[in-house]
Amino acid sequence: MDFKMIPVSNPYIDIKDLRYFKKLFKSKILTDGFFQKKCEEIIKKKISSKFVALTHSCTGALEISTLLINLKKGDEVIIPSYGFVSIANAIVMRGAKPIFAEIDPQTLNISHDDIIKKINKKTKAVYVIHYAGNACDIYRIKKHLKKKNIYLIEDAAHSFLSQSRNKYLGTIGDIGVFSFHETKNLVSGQGGCISINNPKLKKRVNFILDKGTDRYNFIRNYKKKLISSKVRKYYSWVDYGSEYRASELTSALLYSQLLKVNEIQKKREQIWKKFKNCILNIENKDFYIIEPLVNTKSSYHLFVIIFKDQKKSQKFIDFMQKNLIAATFHYVPLHKSKMARKISKQKLSVTEKIFRRVVRLPLYPDMKLKDQKKIMNKIKEFCHGQY
Ligand SMILES: Cc1ncc(COP(=O)(O)O)c(C=O)c1O
Repeated sequence: MDFKMIPVSNPYIDIKDLRYFKKLFKSKILTDGFFQKKCEEIIKKKISSKFVALTHSCTGALEISTLLINLKKGDEVIIPSYGFVSIANAIVMRGAKPIFAEIDPQTLNISHDDIIKKINKKTKAVYVIHYAGNACDIYRIKKHLKKKNIYLIEDAAHSFLSQSRNKYLGTIGDIGVFSFHETKNLVSGQGGCISINNPKLKKRVNFILDKGTDRYNFIRNYKKKLISSKVRKYYSWVDYGSEYRASELTSALLYSQLLKVNEIQKKREQIWKKFKNCILNIENKDFYIIEPLVNTKSSYHLFVIIFKDQKKSQKFIDFMQKNLIAATFHYVPLHKSKMARKISKQKLSVTEKIFRRVVRLPLYPDMKLKDQKKIMNKIKEFCHGQY
């Protein structure tokens, strides 16, 4: 008998990843070195971006985005309430106000129609999340925002290498951000990156990434970190900023992950599709699954089902966990949080009705076949039984 819980996510790492740490330790360059630069080059090329920088997290990349678009007091920013707290924090830390928008119940992505309703003269930006690896209605949203000169930022934390109309998510709006946190498709411990697509926003990014200094202009070559005594120049404080760059340790792990990215994505896709086929064959089920829109390509980050009834979803989670399968809920709407209640009292009926009915199933590249079979059998058992 296997008494270990099947986890909801599991990083695809093994002992071979250590070889890059050995190289790194030998080099003794632990910041801004080979691995950071190499990852930036690989990602930039892979997603056809105009600018990519690795960051210590997607949260950090979101903070950079708010500095780049000069968010300030009096500005409003539309964001999905059904989302991660990092966007909301980045906005309020600049003194701006988050305006929470509804989601589309089919995809759990931000609702295009609700964005339109919430735009006014104060709206400076819209942040979308491409939830679960699936593109939101990005081109329709972009078209509308362009007319009004409103920035579009894509939180593609779940969606590295996902596409919409053959363009990579994170490269369609003005700025895109990604996560390489332990729970994501590619992992670097904690890590992320920012992609800048609007050339006007590129000017200040290296200052912000380097704690508000113009250090980057002096130390471009990681091998020549020492500034020659003949160069009578210093770098100094020129802008807002913080320590946003990724260290060489995390970059070395990400480098190793990038070398096997196709394998990782393929395995996720196969597991996701097997779950879908199993579920399609279940009659009279009380839930539906969220799926990629037409003309898009998913990164298959999450397998999410939505129950018609809140009590049923809780019963399902209990049943699966009793059977050592870590099925679990996801986001709690931000507009209902203690922090958000201090700044607004919005009501979002779709989001409020749906969030307790959302369940995530385990999904990770090296899921054993016997574990996936167990999960599928338990789903069938639940659907056919009197639970
Ligand atoms: C949509 C979304 N954005 C941002 C983040 C934050 O990512 P990180 O942990 O890399 O800061 C998360 C974390 O799960 C997320 O789900």
